[in-house]
Amino acid sequence: MYILGMESSCDETSASVVEMGDGVRRICSNIVASQIEVHRLYGGVVPEIASRAHIEAISRITYEALDEAGITLADVGAVAVTAFPGLIGALLVGVNFAKSLAYARKIPLVAVNHIHGHVAAAYLSNPALEPPFLALVVSGGHTSFYRVDSYTDFCEVGGTRDDAAGEAFDKIGRVIGLPYPGGAALDRLAYEGDPRAISLPSPALSGDTLDFSFSGIKTATLNYLNGMEQKGLAVSFADVAASYTDKIVKAITQKTELALKKEGMKTLVLSGGVAANTHLRASLARLCEKMGVTLAMPDRSLCGDNGAMVAAAGYFEYLAGNFANTSLNASASDSGL
Ligand code: KG4
Ligand code: ZN
Repeated sequence: MYILGMESSCDETSASVVEMGDGVRRICSNIVASQIEVHRLYGGVVPEIASRAHIEAISRITYEALDEAGITLADVGAVAVTAFPGLIGALLVGVNFAKSLAYARKIPLVAVNHIHGHVAAAYLSNPALEPPFLALVVSGGHTSFYRVDSYTDFCEVGGTRDDAAGEAFDKIGRVIGLPYPGGAALDRLAYEGDPRAISLPSPALSGDTLDFSFSGIKTATLNYLNGMEQKGLAVSFADVAASYTDKIVKAITQKTELALKKEGMKTLVLSGGVAANTHLRASLARLCEKMGVTLAMPDRSLCGDNGAMVAAAGYFEYLAGNFANTSLNASASDSGL
């Protein structure tokens, strides 16, 4: 069946048609209208501007997604929309648009948890992947471990107590002059520096916990940069990128090893925007090889927010009979509706 997936939780408006069925997981179209250029002027996402930009783009990209897939609304078996978590004004644009479409055309509607969407991106790139597995979602808003018992049952077993890894990358990226969002540029710059050049604290909390805290490493890096400036010493931004990335990647890898052991899982799914990070992908690949664990990741192009991941997650909600109706609301929080 064809699922129309809609995503508007942050700064990308996206619509996608995905064909899902027995042994079929196919992306027919995945249109992403990014607002990055607009928000770059402010060094971060401005919620009100995001909502307005979603409104301007959503109708156009929906019809573009249908056209590119070569289908019409009459062929759509379900409309799936991200309902939480995210920026409330941004989410409401997608939710209201999807509700109207579903109501007017009598198409079943399903609400999708954005985090489940990120994990579902891995199903599209790994045709044989199925639960149970351990999912690590690393994005601008999350750094969390989930035990995924079925396509729709997630249990959070660890996470960050303050900032997310993506936020931490973006923050230091901005301070060293990289354009917003700094994550991808910092990833590239890290190859040019020495990961042992600067001593930084680990974001992995000590002990048996699966939790992280990124505020310490952020502050230590800012203090290092300020200290060097005060002393009139030159800073190698490549060394900063390499040392910072190395500490974060090592911390995530260390806690992933612990999480896999604690949960007794033989498959790991890495997803979310930061799953595009090449250092993290390589480090987790080494860990999984060492532990005899299967690693499933979305293609790098499917790590950021997109409608295809929402459609894929929506398909499993549809199969589970979890339908929404015109009373569907959006929610900013992780716990949802
Ligand atoms: O999942 P996502 O698109 O949006 C949220 O749900 O938050 O994640 C966006 C985050 C941003 O912080 C961005 O800098 C980061 O993903 N990101 C990366 C890379 N590509 C995107 N971080 C590190 N390395 C990358 N290659
Ligand atoms: Zn996301």
